Amino acid sequence: MGSILVLGGAGYIGSHMVYELIDAGEQVVVIDNLQTGFREAVHPKAVFYEGDIRDRAFVDSVFEKEDIEGAIHFAAVSQVGESMKDPLKYYSNNLCGTEVLLESMVAHGVDKIVFSSTAATYGEPESIPILETDRTLPTNCYGETKLSMEKMFHWTSQAHGLRFVSLRYFNACGAHPNGKIGEAHNPETHLIPLILQVPNGQREYISIFGNDYDTEDGTCVRDYIHVNDLVQAHILALDYLRRGGENNIFNLGNGVGFSVREVVETARRVTGHAIPEREEARRAGDPSTLIASSEKAKKVLGWKPQFGDLNTIIETAWNWHRTHPHGYQTK
Ligand code: UFG
Repeated sequence: MGSILVLGGAGYIGSHMVYELIDAGEQVVVIDNLQTGFREAVHPKAVFYEGDIRDRAFVDSVFEKEDIEGAIHFAAVSQVGESMKDPLKYYSNNLCGTEVLLESMVAHGVDKIVFSSTAATYGEPESIPILETDRTLPTNCYGETKLSMEKMFHWTSQAHGLRFVSLRYFNACGAHPNGKIGEAHNPETHLIPLILQVPNGQREYISIFGNDYDTEDGTCVRDYIHVNDLVQAHILALDYLRRGGENNIFNLGNGVGFSVREVVETARRVTGHAIPEREEARRAGDPSTLIASSEKAKKVLGWKPQFGDLNTIIETAWNWHRTHPHGYQTK
């Protein structure tokens, strides 16, 4: 068996992927342009190449130097709000990058890819829980580019025989229990790290975006899934492709929804801090409820999430943010 190439292996989910692969005994090669990732997040045992996947000569050079068996692709920009202001950045990074990557994979006979997709491919859900067969009608450019990337894999597979698994994550959160890596975005837009900035003394209160949604307490409901459970599904997907599994798409979530208020309340319990809140207007483009059905991943891949409990998820996140208040930077 050759090495596994992790594109975007210095980012939040990619860095957890690399740790999990190395723990599973795999040889790992990482490509990252460090645009949003951090060199410090890359496992010391991984072979690291700094560069951009839109650079064909660079990507080719990695495939020529290394013996790559398959790829796991996280190298994308991923902020919903930014994607609406700067859509062409999303087309360039996400679609042009994937096009170059696939050209190079085909040219070098690498035929397996596991892909980091998103619940944003569905847009406003037709029904809850969301199934893989539900309508995909993204409401933002980020989700649109991820859906187009899935289609790029499909057509490339038809023409060149490459096989893919696309994993549509719901709300990724938490940090590695080893305390060495975690979430570090700049700017941060995600609920859990923003809440934890309050007990960390970096923010005075948490804003609650919208209190008049059609949910039990009026705030948005999301399906929070621990990053280690997400990466475990990639290990299983890789194994599935190695065993000859056909192209497939799977949702990844716990299948349980928590409201914004419930998340804030859980963070208060975990941190022992009062965490003041302030109710604000709805954030544009937020669907009221997103909950996954992950029955297919459980059945076909044998996936069993280990961090089903929100308390434990927030404990791992708090353990990281408390000890790394500035992420990988010292201040
Ligand atoms: N929220 C607040 N206050 C904040 C930040 C967020 O109330 O300060 C709310 C949001 O309005 C939302 C919930 O908390 O209702 C979760 O927000 P996040 O930004 O953490 O996550 P999203 O559900 O918006 O985004 C996630 C992924 C995206 C993906 C999207 C699919 O992070 O990559 O789901 O809709 F595109």
